[in-house]
This record gives sequence, structure tokens and C-alpha cells, in this order.
Amino acid sequence: MRKEIINLLTKHNVPDEIASLIEVPADASHGDFAFPCFALAKLWKKSPIEIAKDIVNKIGKTKSFEKIEAVGPYVNFFVDARDIAGEVLKKIEKDREKYGGGKFGRGRKIVIDLSSPNIAKPFGIGHLRSTIIGNSLALISEFNGYKTVKINYLGDWGTQFGKMIVGYKRFGNMQELKKNPVHYMLKLYIEGNKEDFEQEARDWFKKLENGDVQAIKLWKKFKEISLKNFNGIYKTLGITFHITSGESLYEKKMKDVFKELEKKRLLERDDGALIVDLKKYGLGVALIGKNDGTKLYITRDLAAAIDRYEKYKFSAMLYEVGQEQKLHFKQLFKILELMGYLWAKNCVHVDHGLYLGQDGKRFATRKGKTVFMEEVLEETINLAKEEIKKRAEISEKETDERARRIAIAAIFYGDLKNYRSHDVIFDIDRFLSFEGDTGPYLLYSYARANSILKKSKNKTKLIVNNVSEKEKQLISVLGRFPEVVRHSYEQLAPNLIANYAYTLAQTFNEFYHSCPVIGSDEEGFRLRLVRAFCHVMENAMHLLGIPLLKEM
Ligand code: ARG
Repeated sequence: MRKEIINLLTKHNVPDEIASLIEVPADASHGDFAFPCFALAKLWKKSPIEIAKDIVNKIGKTKSFEKIEAVGPYVNFFVDARDIAGEVLKKIEKDREKYGGGKFGRGRKIVIDLSSPNIAKPFGIGHLRSTIIGNSLALISEFNGYKTVKINYLGDWGTQFGKMIVGYKRFGNMQELKKNPVHYMLKLYIEGNKEDFEQEARDWFKKLENGDVQAIKLWKKFKEISLKNFNGIYKTLGITFHITSGESLYEKKMKDVFKELEKKRLLERDDGALIVDLKKYGLGVALIGKNDGTKLYITRDLAAAIDRYEKYKFSAMLYEVGQEQKLHFKQLFKILELMGYLWAKNCVHVDHGLYLGQDGKRFATRKGKTVFMEEVLEETINLAKEEIKKRAEISEKETDERARRIAIAAIFYGDLKNYRSHDVIFDIDRFLSFEGDTGPYLLYSYARANSILKKSKNKTKLIVNNVSEKEKQLISVLGRFPEVVRHSYEQLAPNLIANYAYTLAQTFNEFYHSCPVIGSDEEGFRLRLVRAFCHVMENAMHLLGIPLLKEM
């Protein structure tokens, strides 16, 4: 319809870029689309009110619109609900899987660096955000026709391993480590991080870099333990990666990076350390090698980026990482650009804000400052179980799976409904509520629609007699989905889909309350609407990484 309106306007001499200013009025009494005449008023040096009247007269009667009217400086377009209903529904039914998928990136590759927790530390709450948002961005990219490469780039190298090894050497005990690995590793780190051991820790990391057998053996153990823990978390969350890589893989490429930086005259010596001076660009100085010869996070990220381009020839690379690393990524992309890599401009730091506690401070659990992800998940799942038990008698196995899905919906949606750069108050009780703007509410709406489909025996095809207001609203929201998918990709903003899903569920619930489906004269048509709602909801929730429930 948008295209059709633009055609009508350009036919009457409205320039393209002005014609595309048409909007969707918030209030349905102003039509399905409205064209504001202010820009034309400037161009044509005429009052926008006059222009609106003129345009309406010139367009006259059309086939596609029930009514076109001038109201003040706006031209309001009212579509014929029956036409639109038929068209929207046909499209949803025909192209079920790909519905909403755009064409503009078909086949091109996008690399997404996501999750990327640090070995030997608990899986952080910040990494949960990166996991949820990165996963959704990958799904959105795929829906828009891109191929994706999801890389989990583990923080499995760096000075902190010197600290861990010191902690273990001084106080460690394999038995204890095996008993409660994640908590115990944190303890080792805290011990090894004490000031007295600074030099010793550095020496151990140096040894690790040099391949010392003892150091490598411990490091491997830490890594194994962490991965086991992380994999449990990913399994609960239903998240997978194409590649699990990590900083340690790039140790052997460090020499090449230094050589290349030297050759390109970017490397400078500063008091024994190696730096790239970015002051000219307002980005300070990037430390690339310490004076004791060890390398840094950014050095490994340089190697990793170059390696990924060689492997995947990506059309874009997204780093889904917290805001606190803004400077790091600005420096990284600048250095790549100075090295002459044209693709550096296609690297994006897709940042996110923090999770906050209800007090507005950094999120912490009841038990203490450090958040253990598996404990947060367990607590959420248990709360969901209590809720389920209130509602239905089902087997234990079924309860477990439902609780897991409800917990995921609660957490994922609680995060994704916010613009990613904003901070999010991590409030499990709120997230889990079955009412209001929450994940469980969306699951519930979907389950309700499904139960209608299950109950109905009706096989009649589309008979559209009259389209009531609530039906028209539902159709109009359903029809907007492809555009939302496109925008969410263009703005790297899953919240657009989350917010859309909520509007869709609300609109559906209003429709459902005012239009009885089963047994009504309009049953055939209304069932088709319910089915279309289910299809679009399935797609929207899929893009958020949230599995649905047919029954709740
Ligand atoms: N492991 C890092 C951290 O926890 C995040 C890594 C992000 N990805 C990257 N290529 N730098 O801070």
C-alpha cells in the first residue's frame, strides 16, 4: 500500500523523497496512512492545508482506497479492509517460513562475535546480554537473507591466567577444584590477584605464552572446567554457535601482527612497550605489547579480525559486547583501517548497556556480588515451575520443559524489549509475570490462539463479509511484520521485533475479546486470522530466540 500511495503522489508531481514521508497515524480515525504536506509547503511555497486539499482533488476516486481525505495539513488514506485482509492473509499463508525475509543481503556473510565469556571466571551477566542480543541479531540477519557465522570468542588467554596459576600453586587443591569448580576457580583468582603476587603472576603468564608444560596443563584444566559449565548454560538457554574460538588461538599469530604493524610504520616504542599512537584521532594510545614482551587483548583481536576476514570474506562483522569496551573497539577498527584493510569499515561494535538490580545499581544476587549464571537460571526456572503447578496437572518431565521455556521467554524478552544500549533492570519477578509487557504474556497469547485452532472443526475457506474494527486492526498489525523485520536488521535493534510482538499479542487479545471465533457466522474468516496470528507470532518469537508453547 505504501508503494501504491507513493505512486499516486509522484504521479501528481510530488518528489520521491517527499512522497516517502508517509506515516502510519497512531489513531486509526486518521486513516491507515497519512501524508504530511509540510515538506511540500516549503518546496511549493504554498500552505500545507491548501496542498492537502489539492492533492485529494487531483487523486479523486481510486480502486485501492475506500476513502482519501484532507484533514488540515494531512492527506489521510483509508484502505479497503477487505482487499487488504485478503492480500495480507494470502501472503502470510503462502510464504510461511520466509515471510518477512528481505532480499537485500541474500547469501552474503555476516560474522557475529557474541557471548564470549572468560574462562576460569563465572559466566557473567554481561555475557548473558551479549548471548541473548547476539543470538537474536544472528536470527534477524538470517531472516533477512544473510548467512551468519556465530563465533563464541572465549577469553581464554591473558594475564589473569598468571593470577589463577599463582592462586592454584599457592593454595590450590585438585579435590576442592573438582567438588565445586566454578566457585573454587573464582577463589583461586581472588587469591592470585593479590598485590604481593603481581610479579609472580606475570611470570606465570609469560611461561604460559612460552608453552611451559606445567602452566599449559593447569590452563587446560581450567578451560575444560569452564567449558563444561558454559555448555550447561548454553543448553538451558537453547543457544548454539557455529564456531567456538578464543584468544589463545591467536598467540601464534602475534609475530605476524607485530611484523605487519612495523612494516606499515604504525608501531612505536615507548619505554620498552610497543604502542600504536592514535592521539591524532582522539583515541589515545593503544598498548600492543608490554615491556615484558607479553601481548594484549587488542593484539589478539587484531589477529582474530584479520583471520576472520581471510576465512569468511564477511560483508559485515558485528561484535556484540558491552559498552565499557567502546574505546577498545574504536581503537581496534582504527588500527585495522590504518593497516589498509578496507573491510574495517564494515566492523561494528554493537554495544549493550548493563543489567541493574532493582535498586538501580549493578545487578547482584541475594547471595553476593558475583552472579553465578546457573544459579540465576535455576531460580527463574523454579519460580516458573511454581506458577505452572498452580495452573495445570502435568507430568514432571513436561513441567520441566515448560518451566525452561517460560524462564527463557521471561529473561530473553525482559532483555530484548529494551533498546540494547539502554540499561535493563533485571527483575525476575517482573519478567516472569503472566500479565503486561512480558515474555510469558506473549507465550500465553500464542497458546490461547492455538487452543482455538485445536477446538475448531471448521473447514470453511475465506468468506470476508464485513471487516470489523478489531479485525482490521489485527490485519494491519500482521501486515506490518516484514517492515519491522527489515528495520530491526537495519538498526541492529531486536527490540523493534520484541515491541512488535507485544503489540501483536495485545491486538490479538482485543480481537479475541470482541470477536467470538468458534460458532460465529464469520468462523472461517476469523480462523484464518487466528492462524495468521500464530504464524507471525512464531516468526517474531523465533527471531528473538524464544521457543513457544502450544499449551500453557
Ligand atoms: N571476553 C571478553 C570480555 O568478557 C569479550 C570478548 C568480545 N569479543 C572480542 N572479539 N573482543 O570482556
